[in-house]
Amino acid sequence: MEKTLLMPEQSHCDSLDASIKETISSIIDDLIASLPDPSHLSSEERRGIIARYTAVLEGNFIYWMTATYMAIQSQEARPIILDNLQEEVRDAHPAMLRRFAIAAHAFPTDTDALAVTEDLTKVRLFLARLSAVQSVVTMAFFEGFIQRFMGYLANLASAEGSTDMEYTDVHGVCDIEHTAGLFRALAAERAVNPLDPSKDLLEGVYILRTLIENIVFNRVETLSA
Ligand SMILES: [Fe+2]
Repeated sequence: MEKTLLMPEQSHCDSLDASIKETISSIIDDLIASLPDPSHLSSEERRGIIARYTAVLEGNFIYWMTATYMAIQSQEARPIILDNLQEEVRDAHPAMLRRFAIAAHAFPTDTDALAVTEDLTKVRLFLARLSAVQSVVTMAFFEGFIQRFMGYLANLASAEGSTDMEYTDVHGVCDIEHTAGLFRALAAERAVNPLDPSKDLLEGVYILRTLIENIVFNRVETLSA
């Protein structure tokens, strides 16, 4: 069931910040709890999850964080997002992810990339609106999910015979700080650039969650099978 959070009139409120964080954590908990046991999946299903994850993350994470940076106005939020981007670029996280996928024999094919096209486009168009608060909360959800998903992704890769776990090791640790930083950025941005009270704060979270569900469950294939 969808949880809807409407912004109250006041621009800043600590208890609302806490409840946003709680709501995001519970959406992530539900998503993690829904993951299929890797040992119950076929090798092709495990490969597919890694491949679709790579098709989405390698080329889009920095792009979406950049879109979020372009949207925000608060002086306090800017260095937090910029730090995140600097680490991505300086440590070449997309190269790390590509190595991870290749080592697991799961580099995305055209079929893998096309399976996520529709939901991927929806996330791109959502972030293209440059709605600052909604973008920051979407990226906080994304970071939080990625950090919790790393152990699962590593299990899929090791079941596929890989030993290259640099990507999952790095992201299981560094995204804890990134997620906390994004929630601080969210509070700062809400204070100076609040969301229109009629808008759903979690709109982007739900659009991105649908994409993540497609990465895991490959609904395109399920529908056409
Ligand atoms: Fe990263």
